[in-house]
Amino acid sequence: MELKEAIYERKSIRAYKPDPVPKEVIAEILEAATRAPSSINTQPWEIAVVGGEAMKKLAEECFEEAKSGAKPRADMVLYASSWPEACVKRMRENGKRLFGLLGIPREDREKRKEFQLSMFKFFDAPQTIFISIDKALGVYSLFDCGCLVQNICLMAAAKGLGTCIIYSGVQYPDIIRKYAQIPEDKNIIIAITIGYIDENATVNKFRSNRDPLDNVVIWEGF
Ligand SMILES: Cc1cc2nc3c(=O)[nH]c(=O)nc-3n(C[C@H](O)[C@H](O)[C@H](O)COP(=O)(O)O)c2cc1C
Repeated sequence: MELKEAIYERKSIRAYKPDPVPKEVIAEILEAATRAPSSINTQPWEIAVVGGEAMKKLAEECFEEAKSGAKPRADMVLYASSWPEACVKRMRENGKRLFGLLGIPREDREKRKEFQLSMFKFFDAPQTIFISIDKALGVYSLFDCGCLVQNICLMAAAKGLGTCIIYSGVQYPDIIRKYAQIPEDKNIIIAITIGYIDENATVNKFRSNRDPLDNVVIWEGF
C-alpha cells in the first residue's frame, strides 16, 4: 500500500473482531514504528502490549471503574483546560455527525453515556498498545511519542488492521499496571487499540472531516 493510501485509509476504529493479531505482526508494526524521529534521538517511548485474558480483565475493570463514576486519574493530564473556539466547533461538528450516524439523538443521555463508556472497554479490541515515558520527561517527549503513535496507526492501516488512539484508555493507570507491569516511575500517556476491523459495525462507517487547507495553512513567498 502506498503511504498516501495508508494515510487516507487510516481512521479511528471503534469495533473489532475478537480474533487476536499475531504477536509477529504487532512486532513488525512496532519495529517499523520505532523508526519515528525523536528529539536528539532520545526515543523516550516505552511500549507495553496487552492481549488475551489480561486485556479482557483490564478492559472489564476500567469499564466498571468508569461506570461507577470514578474520577479519571491519568498519570499525565494532557487535556487543555479550555479549548479555542475553532477546536470546539470541529469537536461539536464531529460529535453531531457521529451520533447522527449512530442514530443517537442529543437528548438520549443514556445512549451517549454508553458510547463514552465503550472507550473504557477499549471497544472490545483483542489487544491494546500502551505508551509510557519516564516521569522525568515533559511535553517535548510527548511530541516524539506522537510521531511513534502515528507510525503505529499507519503501519496497522497498511496491513488492513484497525486502530484507535484513546486517551480515555489511560485514565485508570493503577488498573493498567495490574496487568501490564509498567513501573511506577513511568507515566502511561496513551493507549492504542489494535485488531481486525468489524466491517459490519455502524460506528466504523464514520469518517471524520478535515478543515480545508486554506483554513489551516499560511503561505508566504509563493
Ligand atoms: C491524543 C488522542 C487522544 C484520543 N482519545 C480518544 C478517546 O479517548 N476516545 C476516542 O474514541 N477517540 C480518541 N481519539 C481519536 C480521535 O477522536 C480521532 O482521531 C479524531 O476524531 C479524528 O478521527 P479519525 O481518527 O477517524 O481520523 C484520540 C486521538 C488522539 C490523537
